[in-house]
Amino acid sequence: MRLITNLFIGASVAGLLAGCKAGGDYQGLEYAPNMYHSVAYEPLSQITDKDAGTFTNALDNGRGEFYNSNQYNPYNMNMRLPVAHTVRRNAYGWTPYRGTNDSTGLRLANKLVNPFEASPAVLEQGKVLFETYCKHCHGAKGGGDGKVAQGVKIDGVDHSMYPGVANLRGDAYKNITEGHIFHVITYGKGLMGAHGSQVSEEDRWKIAKYVKELQKN
Ligand code: HEC
Repeated sequence: MRLITNLFIGASVAGLLAGCKAGGDYQGLEYAPNMYHSVAYEPLSQITDKDAGTFTNALDNGRGEFYNSNQYNPYNMNMRLPVAHTVRRNAYGWTPYRGTNDSTGLRLANKLVNPFEASPAVLEQGKVLFETYCKHCHGAKGGGDGKVAQGVKIDGVDHSMYPGVANLRGDAYKNITEGHIFHVITYGKGLMGAHGSQVSEEDRWKIAKYVKELQKN
């Protein structure tokens, strides 16, 4: 009995040690590998090489684990393409903003109406978003005095970090429309970079609302 116990312990230790030896395509010995390796379809990829990933094969069909393409779809795609001419809509049902990044686009944007009312909730969200994306340049109150705009003083010499940040409270900007602000957030202007890829359309409108609110006070 003792011998059997010892043998069992010895075998377990050997197994564990063997499992530690991983390298290259060999990831060591695994107990119940199908617990770790998903056999689900990967929606955004399709691998057509049936042998791809054979080294971690835990599938009953004997194919490489990475081969998870859906043979019933065209081109073995896992995720079907949307129908041609499908237009993306967000949670509000809006289609993407199509204003163009030029003076005509800006002129037309002027006439756009903010889909949100200046409710306390919208202004509160606008404030959080403004403080995330704009405050470091434009300042907490929009005065163009954010930390990035102010620059730093090194050995008594002022260094401008980001020159010419607009003072959104100044007379020059008092009458800009929310559509104009929305457009500028989307595409940027001059030294201000575009924020369209980082800030969703609905958030851009909330920021625009908040900027108008800042200008009042
Ligand atoms: C990296 C610094 C920086 C950030 C971040 C930034 N801005 Fe600006 N912004 C500028 C600068 C610089 C200008 C002046 C651009 C010019 O006229 O050349 C400007 C100009 C503007 C203008 C005036 C546009 C016009 O028509 O002259 C508005 C409105 C504005 N920013 C809003 C925002 C809002 C809202 C955000 C946050 C989503 C933001 N900015 C983020 C630097 C920044």
